[in-house]
Amino acid sequence: MEAMSSSLLHSFFFLSLLFSLANAVPRIHYHDFIVQSTPVKRLCNTHSSITVNGQFPGPTLEVNNGDTLVVKVVNRARYNVTIHWHGIRQIRTGWADGPEFVTQCPIRPGGSYKYRFTVQGQEGTLWWHAHSSWLRATVYGALIIHPKEGNSYPFPKPKRQTPLLLGEWWDANPIDVIREATRTGGAPNVSDAYTINGQPGDLYNCSSKETVIVPVDSGETNLLRVINSALNQQLFFSIANHKMTVVGADASYVKPFTTNTLMLGPGQTTDVLITGDQIPARYYIAARAYASAQNAPFDNTTTTAILEYKSAPCPAKGASIRPVLPSLPAFNDTATATAFSTSFRSPGKVEVPKEIDESLFFTVGLGLNRCPSGAMSSTCQAPNGTRFTASMNNVSFVLPSSFSLLEAHHQGIPGVFTTDFPAAPPVKFDYTGNVSSSLWQPTRGTKVYRLEYGSKVQVVLQGTSIVTAENHPIHLHGYDFYVIAEGFGNFNPETDTSKFNLDDPPLRNTVSLPLKGWAVIRFVADNPGVWIMHCHLDVHISWGLAMAFLVDNGVGELESLEHAPEDLPLC
Ligand code: C2O
Repeated sequence: MEAMSSSLLHSFFFLSLLFSLANAVPRIHYHDFIVQSTPVKRLCNTHSSITVNGQFPGPTLEVNNGDTLVVKVVNRARYNVTIHWHGIRQIRTGWADGPEFVTQCPIRPGGSYKYRFTVQGQEGTLWWHAHSSWLRATVYGALIIHPKEGNSYPFPKPKRQTPLLLGEWWDANPIDVIREATRTGGAPNVSDAYTINGQPGDLYNCSSKETVIVPVDSGETNLLRVINSALNQQLFFSIANHKMTVVGADASYVKPFTTNTLMLGPGQTTDVLITGDQIPARYYIAARAYASAQNAPFDNTTTTAILEYKSAPCPAKGASIRPVLPSLPAFNDTATATAFSTSFRSPGKVEVPKEIDESLFFTVGLGLNRCPSGAMSSTCQAPNGTRFTASMNNVSFVLPSSFSLLEAHHQGIPGVFTTDFPAAPPVKFDYTGNVSSSLWQPTRGTKVYRLEYGSKVQVVLQGTSIVTAENHPIHLHGYDFYVIAEGFGNFNPETDTSKFNLDDPPLRNTVSLPLKGWAVIRFVADNPGVWIMHCHLDVHISWGLAMAFLVDNGVGELESLEHAPEDLPLC
């Protein structure tokens, strides 16, 4: 054993030597993130927002595939904080993943923690965000991964590259918004604006001067890296008069396809090429809600930026001429959302896991908790005097508080979690029909599903119409997965397997679970650690729409979780 691993190690060093001779050496990028309170003025009012380094959105990180990032996060704010590197595989470095109480305890005010991880085999657009309460409303930024130095994109090199972070702004302290909802049991207030790179755009009050300008020149082809960093809303995105060619998503390349509209759930990224082939002028870039739930309040405003041709005649640049607005789909246009999400393919044939070791079926949806008798009605503000909740397989996820799940697992600390997360819902029912209210109240628990290293996993994610059906962006940490099929209604194992794409399905880290529908994902559990899977609508995580996979170590060091960093924050 010893001899084998040392000879493996030798050939590894020899290979990396060869590679570094052939290519540029991977680099290590050092950054300091100071989390602090910063005055930010939007919609005519100034708030003390929590930011990184006083920037909103936060700094853009740019690396090459294969590089290492070392980010020292110093918490000078009054809240606990952690940072998650959304979509980074974190192979063997689960300690740097970031979700509070899952892979680490929070960084307390005054504390600090150094996140260290290597980007392995991912190229395109990801992002980073706080993973603690609702801090990510203002604590987020782009994480751009270029090809290895000397390598090129699988498309003509774009002239310019612009990250476009779509966000959500409250004319309030977002932490107060979720605290209030937690107190009342009702739904939190919806946002007051959407933003593009932190700016609402000139359709909102007091916002016209700061509207984001995206430059383009006639004839050039540019790359836009669109990221949905909104807290609670899927968004449609369009550019007036310009078609977009989708070339990547979630830091994987896709088979290019052309579209007028994107739909991104929170957590998802889409890389598109646009060509300056229109009359030189100014065109609106716009985003607004894809709101799939019936009768649920949502922010129905529209955020804009301006695509501006450098050669546009001067008067066109003046504020007097309004740019053309693109036509965006209706808020409830599920057909357009579906047409978009089913257009994704990998660029060619891919290795989809075939013989499945773990065939899992997870229901995903909301619920209502009955209030204990004698509870104050002000704390039972969900329908019929209840409190909102959410669950997977009827378990509403509760975070631990004394140890993170990863520490508890790694150090064998008992009593922090149990490994009995169910492989299927405890009761089978018509998930997308009229669900009997006896099934509306989940149980609470800190349950994980244990996976052997290397097991081939299939998860059927099944939306429910408990309380209200809606589209859910389901995100898995530590992995990319193939989305091999999606559809409406209840998943039927007899007939729906014929829809499986085992040829060229897209690789994602967040799947948009269709309204009253299902999606099937597959991955190989080759990354040991504890990995949370959750709905990326923060209001749903707050209500418990999450679970975690515990992936065991494999054989030897290269299949095992690294040791915990010395500065890992304690609870
Ligand atoms: Cu981008 Cu657990 O999240």
